[in-house]
Amino acid sequence: VSRPLDRLARVRQARIEAGLRRTLHPRSATFDVLLDLASNDYLGLTRDPRVARAAAEAAQAWGTGATGSRLVTGTTALHADTEAELADFVGVEAALLTSSGYLANLAAVTSLTGPSTTLLSDAVNHASIVDACRLSRARVRVLDHRSDSALRDAIANAGEGTDLVVVTDAVFSVDGEAAHLPEVFSAADTADALTIVDEAHSLGVCGDGGRGLAHGCGPADPRHVVTATLSKAFASQGGAVLGSQVVIDHVIDQARPFIFDTGLAPPSVAAAREALRIIRAEPDLPAAACANAGYLSSLATSLGLDASTPDAAVVSIRIGRPQDALMAQQVCRDHGVLVGCFRPPSVPDDDSRLRLTARADLDEPALAQVGAALAAVAARLTG
Ligand SMILES: Cc1ncc(COP(=O)(O)O)c(C=O)c1O
Repeated sequence: VSRPLDRLARVRQARIEAGLRRTLHPRSATFDVLLDLASNDYLGLTRDPRVARAAAEAAQAWGTGATGSRLVTGTTALHADTEAELADFVGVEAALLTSSGYLANLAAVTSLTGPSTTLLSDAVNHASIVDACRLSRARVRVLDHRSDSALRDAIANAGEGTDLVVVTDAVFSVDGEAAHLPEVFSAADTADALTIVDEAHSLGVCGDGGRGLAHGCGPADPRHVVTATLSKAFASQGGAVLGSQVVIDHVIDQARPFIFDTGLAPPSVAAAREALRIIRAEPDLPAAACANAGYLSSLATSLGLDASTPDAAVVSIRIGRPQDALMAQQVCRDHGVLVGCFRPPSVPDDDSRLRLTARADLDEPALAQVGAALAAVAARLTG
């Protein structure tokens, strides 16, 4: 018997008994059987023919892969144009594409901090920010979730002349609630701190025409940095760091997750650029996603479920025990609706949730189907 494998088998068994075993479910190509409320395809653009065509044409023109890191052969005119268009959309001087949103956070946080930095990070920040903080070698202070007073106190206690960086999700991914960005920016300004705001769930969804939650209150200041993913509203893969030219130049020169990683594949760049152009041409799309979230949240609450009040296109429903959350997910599946299920370690113990993505393209029959599924969940939980 192998001791390491025996240990893995024991841990696996414990995870099964606690309802924490994770399995991979291959989905159909079109989600044609189930109504998809589990993906992050906020605007319903991943199967849009214009986006698919842009990706296919880029594969023909530029190849299927980037061929190298961005600083060697992995930058094409497509990358440069898309960076310029994204920067213009967000209202910053420059943007830098990375091969994922995860790496955008690693690149921004690790390169903009050092051993003499105090890094102030919200307790519920995304795992990629948590990992970035760990990798940064900065002194990390984890702040109470969305607490303006905790942020102000941490800044006051940091000491005169400390190099400060504040990092937060703009919209927190599990419950879909927004950070208090005006307060974050104002507190950061008092300390001349850099801010890094992750707009993964808000760019293309929230703010003026989908320009994100920081738009209008942050990015115009050269000390404010935005990170984003192209894998949600932008219907593609990849990520971006956005900010002033001096910040982006620094990330290019210093960020190991950018320098030592193969560039984003041209079809992914082209798909994201096409999605961006659609978002600019159809500003009602982001608003529709948020309106659907508001509707689903009210519906769930009226059924007696503990639903979040969404600030973006995510609605989460607190269930409690992971086993009950899995049961509720299955009830939705039985009603033809695919929803996400968050269990530890993604959420605290016994705080498991269903997570619903209120896509922009949900029509009335789809919303009615979700209503029937949620009514069945409520009945099972109380019955
Ligand atoms: C808040 C947040 N930041 C970053 C990421 C990582 O983005 P990507 O999937 O492009 O790596 C995600 C999720 O995927 C996220 O929810």
